Formats: sequence, structure tokens, C-alpha cells
Amino acid sequence: MKLLLNIYFRAFLSLLKRPPNLRVLTNYAKYYLARIKPKLKLNFTPTNLVIYTTKSCNLNCDFCFIGDDLNPENPKRYELTFDDYKKIKESNFFKNALRLGLLGGEPFIAKDIFLILEDLKKYGKITTVVTNAMLLKGETLERFKKCPPTILGLSLYPENKEDVQRVFEALDSKTIVWIQTIIEATDLNKIYRVLEYCKMIGCKNIRMGNYYPTYGKGMDHVIFEDNEDYRAIRKDVEKKFGREFNIDWLAPVQRKVKKKACLQPLSYIHIDNRGEIGACFMRSPNADIYGNIFDQNAWNNKANQDLRNNMYFKREGCDPWCRFCENLGEDLYKV
Ligand SMILES: C[S@@+](CC[C@H](N)C(=O)[O-])C[C@H]1O[C@@H](n2cnc3c(N)ncnc32)[C@H](O)[C@@H]1O
Ligand code: SF4
Ligand code: SF4
Repeated sequence: MKLLLNIYFRAFLSLLKRPPNLRVLTNYAKYYLARIKPKLKLNFTPTNLVIYTTKSCNLNCDFCFIGDDLNPENPKRYELTFDDYKKIKESNFFKNALRLGLLGGEPFIAKDIFLILEDLKKYGKITTVVTNAMLLKGETLERFKKCPPTILGLSLYPENKEDVQRVFEALDSKTIVWIQTIIEATDLNKIYRVLEYCKMIGCKNIRMGNYYPTYGKGMDHVIFEDNEDYRAIRKDVEKKFGREFNIDWLAPVQRKVKKKACLQPLSYIHIDNRGEIGACFMRSPNADIYGNIFDQNAWNNKANQDLRNNMYFKREGCDPWCRFCENLGEDLYKV
């Protein structure tokens, strides 16, 4: 929570410098009303729009929730060009969004990403990029320093410790940077190793994420609510390092579905370069299911309404994709 408060406060200050358009604020107000009293059919567009710049990646993590969509045979088909981006900018989804995220695959594989980041500076939007940092070096890193997003997430893996350090050191004074890492039930001591690493490079902001079992793979890696060892480590870390770091702790997964708190069916979509919609960060863009931002009223189609119905109106159970997602019991973004 301390991390989110810190980041949202700094992001809010950045919006004071370049305030959002009135339509963004109106759209946000409508979303806020729907949070209080959710509806199946919405009269606004998502406050968060995340665009995949590519489905290709220089890594091939076996847990990756991009799943079978990662590293497709025809990568150029999915690469966000500046022309694709210009078309997306014409849609109400772009115009109304308060937060605009760039994601992948590895976002920096897309050759036009810097043109896009430079252009995004013109709008009063909170921009975010999550990257494994490995391609950001030399001239590429220098260029990135001139057009950083409002918030930069650096994902830490065993392969990229030096890359994360290099990019953190280059960008920390220019924007809000956090390090994100997946904590697994099978290796809870990683929490201490990550803290040691962050201390060494001087990063205070850390987001620890739970493991999502893509296609049901790796269930033993998921941290559940009755994991006493996790609770004990968290307590110990808060006592010893509470002042030193701003940590956003993972949400343990419920053993039985008691609470459904995810706001994504009201607040979020991600899209590919052609505007095909994925309903949340665990659901790949697919126009046949979730529609396309260029279709009339796509966000209120059957699949998107079903998701809202499952989340906010059905008392028992949940959509099967949501069952082991940490966002189900506790919305990660909270805004
Ligand atoms: C899909 S990646 C895309 C951006 C970039 N390639 C990276 O790794 O930062 C975005 C984030 O999702 C996280 N992620 C991927 N698969 C996951 C899973 N099964 N469970 C939890 N987090 C996952 C990654 O660690 C990363 O922080
Ligand atoms: S670096 Fe990111 S996109 Fe690439 S495989 Fe790993 S988690 Fe997936
Ligand atoms: S709970 Fe997870 S899988 Fe379900 S809608 Fe929310 S983010 Fe998506």
C-alpha cells in the first residue's frame, strides 16, 4: 500500500503539470460511479488502456501468462507500428483513458516504441511501461532517458540483474521506477534476496507479485491465504525493513472464493496492434471473444458482460480463468 500511495501521489503531481482532457475526467467519474454500483452495460470506456507493442520476447519464461501467444511465427503481424498507434489514437478508448500502458512480449522489441513514447508526452495521461530491461543499453537507453513513461516497471529475473541495475540507475532520477518480481510458494526466501538486491542498487520501490498458474501449470508455486510461512516472512520484513522500502505485497489466493474484488471488468482492457481486445491482463486479445476497439460498443459485448456478471452479480464461484488470479480477492491497482 505504501508503494501505491507513493506512486499515485507522484503520478498525480505529474498530471498537474499536464492536466488530462475533460473527457478523461468525465470518463473517470462515470467509472467511479460504476464501482459503487456495478452494471453489466457501461456508459464509459476503460480508464486503463494497455497496448501490446509486440508478442515477441527475447526471453521465454516458462511461467509467462502470455502463454501460447508468445513469440508467434509471424511477429511483424503483431508489432505496433507508429501507423497502428495513430489509428488507435483516433478511438474513444484511447481518448478517454487516463492510463496508457505499453506491454509485450518485450515492449522494446517494437522498433517504433520511442516514436510512440515521444508522442505520448503530448497528452495528459499516466503512461506505464513494464520491461525486462535487457534491450535497453547504449544509444537505446540514451533515447529512452529522453522520453520515459510516468511509471516504469523493471521485472527482475535471474537472467537480468545487471540490466535492471543499469536501467534503474539511468532512469531513477527521471521518472517513477519500481522493481517487480514474482514470489513463489516454493521459494519464499527469494523475498530476502530481492530486498538485498534492491538495497544494493538503491531501489526502494518493490512490487511482489503472486504466481499465476498459466493453463493450470505450477499450482504448487501459488501462495495461498493459509501459507503461514509467507505471513511470517512478511511480518519479519515489515518489522526489519518497513522504513527502508516501499513494498507492494502480493495478494495470497483464496482457498475458497469468498471475495470478488477485481475491478478490471470495469476499468481495464489490453489490446494488440490492430485493436483486438483482451478483457484483462490474463486474457489475450481476441476480437472473436472480446471484440475490437473499432467495433461499435465492443466493450459491452456478451463476453465482457459475462465477465462483469461473474464478478459482481453471481454469488457463487467465479470465472475459471479468475480462480487462481491474485487480483480476484484484492484489486492490485485499487484506483
Ligand atoms: C508479461 S510481462 C511483459 C513485459 C516484459 N517482458 C517483462 O517481463 O517485464 C509483464 C509482467 O508479467 C509478469 N508475469 C508473467 N507471467 C506471470 C505469471 N505466470 N505470474 C505472475 N506474473 C507473471 C512478468 O514477470 C512481468 O513482470
Ligand atoms: S520476459 Fe516477460 S514477456 Fe518475456 S517471457 Fe518473460 S514474462 Fe513473458
Ligand atoms: S480476477 Fe484476474 S483473471 Fe479475473 S478478471 Fe480480474 S485480472 Fe482477470
